[in-house]
Amino acid sequence: MAANKKLLIVAGDGIGPEVMTQVKRVIAWFDKRQGLTFDVGEELVGGVSYDKHKTPLTDEVMGKALEADAVLLGAVGGPKWDNLPFADKPERGLLRLRKEMELFANLRPALVFDALAEASSLKTELVKGLDIMIVRELTGGVYFGSPRGIETLPNGERRGINTQVYTTSEIVRVARVAFELAQKRSKKLCSVEKANVMESGVLWREEVTKLAPEYKDVALSHMYADNCAMQLVRQPKQFDVIVTDNLFGDLLSDCAAMLTGSLGMLPSASLGATDQQGRRRALYEPVHGSAPDIAGQGKANPLAALLSYSMMLRYSFDLAKEADLLDTAAKNVVAKGFRTGDIMSPGATLVSTTGMGDEILKELDRLG
Ligand code: NAI
Ligand code: MG
Repeated sequence: MAANKKLLIVAGDGIGPEVMTQVKRVIAWFDKRQGLTFDVGEELVGGVSYDKHKTPLTDEVMGKALEADAVLLGAVGGPKWDNLPFADKPERGLLRLRKEMELFANLRPALVFDALAEASSLKTELVKGLDIMIVRELTGGVYFGSPRGIETLPNGERRGINTQVYTTSEIVRVARVAFELAQKRSKKLCSVEKANVMESGVLWREEVTKLAPEYKDVALSHMYADNCAMQLVRQPKQFDVIVTDNLFGDLLSDCAAMLTGSLGMLPSASLGATDQQGRRRALYEPVHGSAPDIAGQGKANPLAALLSYSMMLRYSFDLAKEADLLDTAAKNVVAKGFRTGDIMSPGATLVSTTGMGDEILKELDRLG
């Protein structure tokens, strides 16, 4: 099945290609063992694209991303390209993908593997079993609103300006993604803003509240963003799905992520609008960057990329059984004590990037 579904892999720079190599092995496993065949293409993005084409993303690759059913990205950037002009920087390749694909909903799970709960900066009992999903609005709000800029006032003082702007449709479309996710999870949604001090927050709360009758099975609550930050470190397991704007989501998703221990474990999905054929634009990528400090040494943890692939199976293709299989394999491998350096603990077995891939495949063989 799925043979007509197009995947575009853009592995990018640094450890991007290293972790994506393990993803490709898992794609091949599902193809061979479960008949899950995708039409897989591979292209350049980031610094490697700049080196070859003098741009971090060619129009041709952009076009392929728009045609794909899902895009899988590794990471972009690195010291080699740090001094390029802003428009040529590797990060611009990723930003262009996000912008032209109109990816307005960023899904950031914060999931703690039992075997790693002790690595959290919080007490083990607070995070053991933690499984929350933060949905961050990604294309609106204060990072994009106008007016913006730095101006000089008549008295010579300078003033920096950014504007928080949300329209009803921007709020409604990301809230719907969050409600639908909550329906598939523990049926709890917490909407986060600062309606006490921001008009955009008042509108946010009104629009989310208006949608609630359409999702009667979901228990909706509201929370101010500052309180949410406190609650995330005080009692994180009270949450299931959190939906919030671009700025608060940026901070709260990083905060929630770190409850789980390592960047090497964190996947993400960015979803866009649904087209006439019912396809939702989507890009899946690990949260981490290109990790130049460990690139080329076989040290990168491929689990964030592998879990991003499992999010793709779940959210782009409704393949929950296959996604569960891969998630379980990842949990079991870690529970058996196989660790890359970033999640290493006393008594565990240190493995390389490829070694982790080997163990995942063995576990898939055993489970599948
Ligand atoms: P980073 O995420 O690349 O690395 C931060 C630290 O975490 C490093 O010590 C790294 O070794 C470690 N780390 C990250 N991923 C790991 C993994 N899978 N396994 C084991 N250890 C891992 O962030 P940093 O250092 O701030 O940025 C490096 C480059 O990556 C920069 O050029 C930056 O612009 C770019 N970047 C790209 C992103 C993307 O492509 N989405 C996101 C963040 C940064
Ligand atoms: Mg951030």
